[in-house]
Formats: sequence, C-alpha cells, structure tokens
Amino acid sequence: MTDLRPKQGKSVFIRTYGCQMNVYDSERMADLLKPIGYSAADSPDDADLVILNTCHIREKAAEKVYSELGRLKRAKANREADGETMTIAVAGCVAQAEGAEIAARAPVVDMVIGPQAYHRLPELLARDARDRGVALETDFAVNEKFDALCNREAEGPAAFITVQEGCDKFCTFCVVPYTRGAEVSRPVEAITAEARSLAAQGVKEVTLLGQNVNGWAGAPPAGDSSDKWRLGELCRHLAKIDGIERIRFTTSHPRDMDDGLIAALGDEEKLMPYLHLPVQAGSDKILKSMNRGHTAESYRRLIEKIRDARPDIALSGDFIVGFPGETTEDFEETLALVETVGYASAYSFKYSRRPGTPGAAMPKQVAEAEKDDRLARLQELLERQRSAFNRAQIGRTMPVLFEKAGRHPGQLIGRSPYLQSVHANAPESMLGSIAPVTILDVTPNALAGALKKEDEDAA
Ligand code: SAH
Ligand code: SF4
Ligand code: F3S
Repeated sequence: MTDLRPKQGKSVFIRTYGCQMNVYDSERMADLLKPIGYSAADSPDDADLVILNTCHIREKAAEKVYSELGRLKRAKANREADGETMTIAVAGCVAQAEGAEIAARAPVVDMVIGPQAYHRLPELLARDARDRGVALETDFAVNEKFDALCNREAEGPAAFITVQEGCDKFCTFCVVPYTRGAEVSRPVEAITAEARSLAAQGVKEVTLLGQNVNGWAGAPPAGDSSDKWRLGELCRHLAKIDGIERIRFTTSHPRDMDDGLIAALGDEEKLMPYLHLPVQAGSDKILKSMNRGHTAESYRRLIEKIRDARPDIALSGDFIVGFPGETTEDFEETLALVETVGYASAYSFKYSRRPGTPGAAMPKQVAEAEKDDRLARLQELLERQRSAFNRAQIGRTMPVLFEKAGRHPGQLIGRSPYLQSVHANAPESMLGSIAPVTILDVTPNALAGALKKEDEDAA
C-alpha cells in the first residue's frame, strides 16, 4: 500500500489556464491535496509543489506553459540552493496532448498528469518521493476520477459543478475531443449530492459545466419512471434543492439544444436568462467544413425558438475568424449573423492551426494579417452590441447576487441574472445574498447600481 498519510506543512501553488472546467479541476486538485497536508502557497517561488493546469485550445495558450516552465526552472534551482525542494507538475490539456514532449523538452517537470487522471495526484506524489523519474499519467479514467473527488468546501456563494465532460463532436479546428476524451455524463445522484453539499454551505448559484453540457444524459433517480433524463430535467431537479436560487449551464452546442431544455429555460424561474451558444461562423460552407452539424439558418431558427420560450434571454457566443477557405464573403456572413442575432457578450478568436486536427491540414489557410483585420471588424461589432445591451439596463431594477468586496470601501460586487458584474454600495453582511439593485450607470466592464431603498434600510 502506498503511504498517503499527511506530510506536515507542505504548500502548493496551482496556476490555471483555459476554461472554467480547468478552474473547477484546479479547485478539486486543491481539495485532494488538503488531506495529505498541502495548503495554498502565495507564490510559486515558495511552494513545495507547483501545478500548471494547462490549456491546449490555441497555440498561444499552449506556448505559455513552456515560458512558465522556464521561470520555474530558476525558482526550483533557488529553492534547491536553499536546501529545499520543488515538485513541478503539468496537468490539464497540454499534459494530455503533449505529455511525452513535455517530459523530453522540460526535464524540470516531475509529473505530467492528464485531465482524467488528476485524482491519482496523492498517489503520484507519494511515488515521486521514492523514485524521482517523470511520472506520466494520461489515461482516460473519467468515471474513476469523479468517484474519487472528495467533499469540497464552498469558496463563495457561486460555484461550478462539472456534470459532463469530453466531446464527440470533432469540430475540425478543435483539440478538445483529443484532450478530454469521449462525452461522459456524471450520474444524477453524484451531481445532486454535490449541489446539496454546496447549498448547505451557503452556495446560492450553481453553474453546471460541460464541454457539451446540453449533451448531458442520465438515468433518472429512483421513483421517476422516465427512461432517460436530459439537461432540462436535471436543472428542474436541482432547482428543488433548498438554498439553490440560480442555475446556469455552459457550454451548450446548438445540436444538443432539445425542446425539454428550451421549455425549462422558459418556465423554470431558477434558470438564469443567459445562454452561451457558440456558432463559430455564419457561412454554411465554413460551418460544413468545420463539421459543426448545423447551418446559419438552423442556428437562427433555434435562437428564435429559445427567445419565444424566454423573451428576456441574453445570448453569448464564440466565433472563429480565418478558418481555412474563409473568403471575405464568408466572413461577411458571420457579421450578418451577428447583426441578426444580437449578442450580450461574446468571445472571438483568430483560427489557430492545431497539430493533429483536420483543419491544420486543410488547404487555403488564411493569412495572419487578414485574420487580424477580420477579428478587428468582428470585435468592433460585438463590442457595440455588448455595450448597447449593458446601457439598456440603466434604470432597471434586477436581482444581484453579491459575491465579493469591491475595490472601494463599502462597495460589493455581484452578478446580474445576465452574468454582468454589478457594483453597488452595500454592507458586508449582504455578501452571499441576492438583493434588488437599480442600475444607474455603465462602466466599460461592469454596471454600477444602488440597492433598492427598502433593502438598504432593512440591512
Ligand atoms: N464546447 C467547448 C468549446 C471549447 S473551446 C466548451 O466547453 O467551451 C472554446 C472556444 O474556443 C470554441 O468555441 C472556439 O470558438 C474556440 N476555439 C477552439 N479551437 C480553436 C482554434 N483552433 N482556433 C481558434 N479558436 C478555437
Ligand atoms: Fe471543440 Fe466542437 Fe467539441 Fe466544442 S463541440 S469542444 S468546439 S469539438
Ligand atoms: Fe483549454 Fe482544455 Fe478547456 S484545451 S479550453 S483547458 S478543455
């Protein structure tokens, strides 16, 4: 048996890159390390263990790992000069995609651990102390991982819960199906238990995470006679938990947006009126070549259907410009789609050629300067829509969940139902609660508001 007993007084520094699922995974790694004696270090320089939880989605994201490893090499040498040690682990999607390359390129790395293997971290650390060879753990053991995730401590009134992981869609630009593996859904019971435990600790808002979250499917709990639940039923079930006031989910795929989920968005009040529904491009030729499985028109119709069910829904999207073969006309169709849909927020990227994906080998790669131009034009339009959406909130009163203290004394920062940051003067006792705020002004990245009068008096 491996000895996993506490080693006293060790510290860990975890640096997280990439998406919200990596944020969730980093928190779970910290939870797994706590019982074996690791507390959080303030900086990598004075940590016994440094974990880089990496992202492989675009070339720039992946490159950051190697430059960070360069810095850590010096930090490790400094510690060793002082008679201390530093264990360096690379986790996440770069670990999965380039595990062997990291081990070869960066001898400073002690461990490479994929996104489906991080539950083995305590065991690996024990092994690492015995023989200091590079430990490489990149098996896909997603169910085993979820089973191993121990009780978690809430870190504020809003929390993520991974409900689905992996992707079977194979968009031709994307590495995620290779780094996260096939689509796997967590069982209802495990998700419910995690949500209940968070609610008992004061969590008011849960965001269900998945690479294709609306592809979630599972057997209903005992007592329910339906064959299978989809995300809509799961959300309705979680909405019954006392204390959970808000439910969100991300990221959805247009192909998996079924009627049950749309109906739930329409009538389940705890489901927030905000939907991240990436479309990527507006030209059918490009959508086909991306293997998206939908057209611009089917996406538009889907949006109409969702808006019929929930008229106040705010939409957000992801866009890629300069996919191979994209002409100026194709790009103009993306702009046209954005014009008709209207987004409250969006993420847009220049196409990045990822090794091993079909897109990387396609002819007619678009020149970098052309991608720069298209991205600037798209972002200008998306920014106009975002600020118009934010300005339209001025004068409205909306429920805000206060999550943290603001920069100015007496100020708290919270979230609107539409995921906007809201600043308001409010007593600290209101942290973790939901209260109506009247929006008075808009700053570049947030809304500024004031507590509705009677709530201020009652506080
Ligand atoms: N369904 C996933 C998408 C992950 S990737 C999710 O859970 O969020 C997030 C976004 O990155 C994609 O929607 C896409 O717009 C962008 N992206 C993915 N691969 C890319 C690439 N090779 N180049 C540029 N952007 C990319
Ligand atoms: Fe990537 Fe497409 Fe899967 Fe999203 S749906 S993770 S973009 S392959
Ligand atoms: Fe990046 Fe992996 Fe997330 S590649 S976006 S960290 S799933």
